[in-house]
Amino acid sequence: MSDIQTQFVKNVLADAASAPKPTGSAFAPSNIALAKYWGKRAAALNLPINSSLSISLGALGTRTEIRVRGSVEATSSSLDRGSDVPVAPDDVYLNGVLQAPETSFARRVSSFLDLFRPLFAGRGFEVRTENNIPTAAGLASSASGFAALVMALDDLAGWGLDKKRLSMLARLGSGSAARSVYDGFVQWNAGENPDGTDSFAERVDAVWPDFRVGVLELSAAEKPVGSRDGMNRTVETSALYESWPAQARRDIETIRTAIENRDFSALGAAAENNALAMHATMMSAWPPLIYLQPESIEMIHQVQRVRAEGLEVYLTIDAGPNLKLLFLAENEAAVAAAFPELQLIKPFG
Ligand code: DP6
Repeated sequence: MSDIQTQFVKNVLADAASAPKPTGSAFAPSNIALAKYWGKRAAALNLPINSSLSISLGALGTRTEIRVRGSVEATSSSLDRGSDVPVAPDDVYLNGVLQAPETSFARRVSSFLDLFRPLFAGRGFEVRTENNIPTAAGLASSASGFAALVMALDDLAGWGLDKKRLSMLARLGSGSAARSVYDGFVQWNAGENPDGTDSFAERVDAVWPDFRVGVLELSAAEKPVGSRDGMNRTVETSALYESWPAQARRDIETIRTAIENRDFSALGAAAENNALAMHATMMSAWPPLIYLQPESIEMIHQVQRVRAEGLEVYLTIDAGPNLKLLFLAENEAAVAAAFPELQLIKPFG
């Protein structure tokens, strides 16, 4: 926890009142970026180099419950006393199982909660996180996880923060979490201010009930390098990265127009090109970042093949080996036949 983060949290909560409850709870959907976030301009406030655009995954995500012992006033003025409050341990449960404090999951949750702990008199929290995303499906649970955690904290403290502020706070936990405070299509504006106040996500005003996402779980192997280190390495060492921010800008424009016109082909092509361009920047980093496995390459070819035969299906891939397919309801049966292992998601329910 740095001073700059503490100050940021204090500013975001500046005029929030407090009406604490015994338990706070919230649900946040997972999301998949169609135009990816890859690269940070400032680490402490988790500010991205480029804007990104995603689709939230409806009922698939994280439900979190949080409580603190005793009743406390959670107002921003108590942050001033931040430095002298002792740090208390948290009980962090994941899918009903208490996580040892040294596990990376518990550490990430606790160090995020450290940002808010002074507002709760330095107390420890009990956090119960339930993911209904199959953990091995290669769907980022940190996005829905930090979004649900911030929203549950907001519910616990009774701050009544708007989505913009919730998005800015979730961003501190994980960049992609900034987008998971909304349903549907979401754009996270990178912003320019060093203070991070213009870097938050907004809902794209569109409902596309026929939009489908399918997950192809190809490998449950641990990623060798996490997104955070991977993107830092790419920014520092990849010569191709220079062209990435402009590509991201173009793709967001194309995808937004495609959403407006319900032009699925334009959306799919831009999303697929964006994901593969991101992987090109990763591969040209040094040491190289190769998240794709042989099965991923095989499936990429399979997608090109069925598309050449006339089936409108496109792919996207995050920093891992698994593919996500994009298609419309009318092609659901044909896509399921071509990819029998597919897990079907209806983002609009
Ligand atoms: C490839 O949001 O996990 O999924 O901000 O360091 O926590 P941190 O990174 P994270 O990165 C996500 C990268 C991505 C693309 C995306 O979701 O936009």
